[in-house]
Amino acid sequence: MSNSDRVVLALGGAGTVGSGIVKALLDKGFKVAVISRDNSRLERLKSFVSPKTKDNLTTIVGNVGSEEGAEEAKQALLKEVGKVTDIVSSLGFSWWQGGPPHTQSLKDLNWVTETLLFSTFVSWKAFFPLVRDDSSRTYTFITGGAGEKLLMPGTGFLTIGAASTLAFCQVLREEYPEVPCKLNQVRLRWDYTARLK
Ligand SMILES: NC(=O)c1ccc[n+]([C@@H]2O[C@H](COP(=O)([O-])OP(=O)(O)OC[C@H]3O[C@@H](n4cnc5c(N)ncnc54)[C@H](OP(=O)(O)O)[C@@H]3O)[C@@H](O)[C@H]2O)c1
Repeated sequence: MSNSDRVVLALGGAGTVGSGIVKALLDKGFKVAVISRDNSRLERLKSFVSPKTKDNLTTIVGNVGSEEGAEEAKQALLKEVGKVTDIVSSLGFSWWQGGPPHTQSLKDLNWVTETLLFSTFVSWKAFFPLVRDDSSRTYTFITGGAGEKLLMPGTGFLTIGAASTLAFCQVLREEYPEVPCKLNQVRLRWDYTARLK
């Protein structure tokens, strides 16, 4: 299948990591769809991508972090683009350094888990059936190095959230070894010591 026949759903595509992925995919000739809760982020994304590729970008306002929101967004998406051949999931947040655990509340931990893990799970459950049974289709999770160690003091809840997403990806790989769709996981690792200098 050529790139122009593929339709990529970029979950988190209006975010820092996602918008770079969206731009690169459009530049390579893919059609790309992005769902965001915030229309102004979608407008910013439209002005960020290469002008000549704009017609291949579909944007939808929706919340893929709730079960109802994800289902609604899926229906709107299928109405707009007809099919999805690839999904890239980079949901979450860029950085969290709220302090060591004893200074944090349950509300903080809930927010971290909801934003990183719950949205990844809920959207996977809603959108995976679109690609699951076809060996030419893919589902890719973007994860980070924060899930493997404490990046620096005060980033503990980021580690907890990122580690839970990593664990979720591992569970999927082991629970669905025979699934025709290709399940990928890309780990982004920056040198965070640079931030200390
Ligand atoms: N930035 C980095 O340096 C870096 C490095 C390594 C790994 N990562 C990983 O990459 C992922 C994304 O990071 P980022 O820097 O791109 O973060 P970001 O700029 O904050 O973007 C995150 C995206 O996730 C979406 N999102 C979050 N919660 C959601 C929810 N409940 N429902 C629907 N959408 C939700 C946001 O959607 P809306 O548009 O609706 O707000 C946003 O587009 C994270 O898992 C992070 O750990 C980032």
